[in-house]
Amino acid sequence: MEDLQGQVSLITGGTRGLGLALASGLARAGARVYLIGRSAETVAEAVKGLRALGYEAAGGAFDVAAADRADELVDRVIREMGRLDILVNNAGVIERRPTAELGLDSWRRVLDVNLTGSFALARAAGRTMVRRGEGRIVTISSVLGRSGMAEVASYAASKGALDQLTRCLAVEWAGTGVRVNAIAAGYFVTELSEPAREDPVRGPRLLDRIPAGRWGQPEEIVGPLLFLVSPAASYVTGCVLPVDGGWSAT
Ligand SMILES: NC(=O)c1ccc[n+]([C@@H]2O[C@H](COP(=O)([O-])OP(=O)(O)OC[C@H]3O[C@@H](n4cnc5c(N)ncnc54)[C@H](OP(=O)(O)O)[C@@H]3O)[C@@H](O)[C@H]2O)c1
Repeated sequence: MEDLQGQVSLITGGTRGLGLALASGLARAGARVYLIGRSAETVAEAVKGLRALGYEAAGGAFDVAAADRADELVDRVIREMGRLDILVNNAGVIERRPTAELGLDSWRRVLDVNLTGSFALARAAGRTMVRRGEGRIVTISSVLGRSGMAEVASYAASKGALDQLTRCLAVEWAGTGVRVNAIAAGYFVTELSEPAREDPVRGPRLLDRIPAGRWGQPEEIVGPLLFLVSPAASYVTGCVLPVDGGWSAT
């Protein structure tokens, strides 16, 4: 299941947190990885770390909110790495704020990064994958794609829309050899979740809701991704797979 020898993966937001764990996991399974994040320095650091482990890694600065440059990024990856087999749409941002105080600028920013950025990259990667008759796209969504929660309206709306985007692309491309899936991540220990985890009220309340009784470690999202991109999942497309310690089962 885990042999991805020589396959090229593009991972957005691959410099830390879940994205870095996913990039390492793909590289460990034999894939050649191309990471992007907004800062050239942090991308270079992550690439250096992966190379030090003996993995083939490259990357560059790219803001996924620049959706009209998505084709350029996919062309760059194909030029530098020779091909593109796997796209992991992982980059995401969250804005925690009472909805009455949520400005349109902030709403648009979250939607631009999480939803439109992922759409544009999936479209760009999908074009070349469909032409080749082979490819896999996995988007990192959230349990908040289907559950409501206070003060995260833009984030939850973007993730719900990503789940639907996943299903639509999966259906549209199902006969072409391109599989499109998502992972609905629960609560993991990363920088993004730190304010919620450290909040003396919200932190324990969230933990109480997780049947596993603990937050996930980034490494725990790797196996589900490797399954979704491997031949073991050859008949799996349009799936939004919960990886959440049981959160969505309650
Ligand atoms: N952690 C959780 O509990 C959790 C739960 C459910 C879903 N998720 C989802 O999992 C994904 C990763 O989350 P995480 O917790 O690993 O977050 P994180 O630790 O904040 O890492 C986010 C990554 O995305 C990059 N990034 C942010 N904005 C970007 C942009 N506009 N363009 C390109 N790269 C950008 C960041 O690099 P730069 O800042 O340098 O650009 C960083 O590499 C997100 O989609 C998130 O919604 C996380």
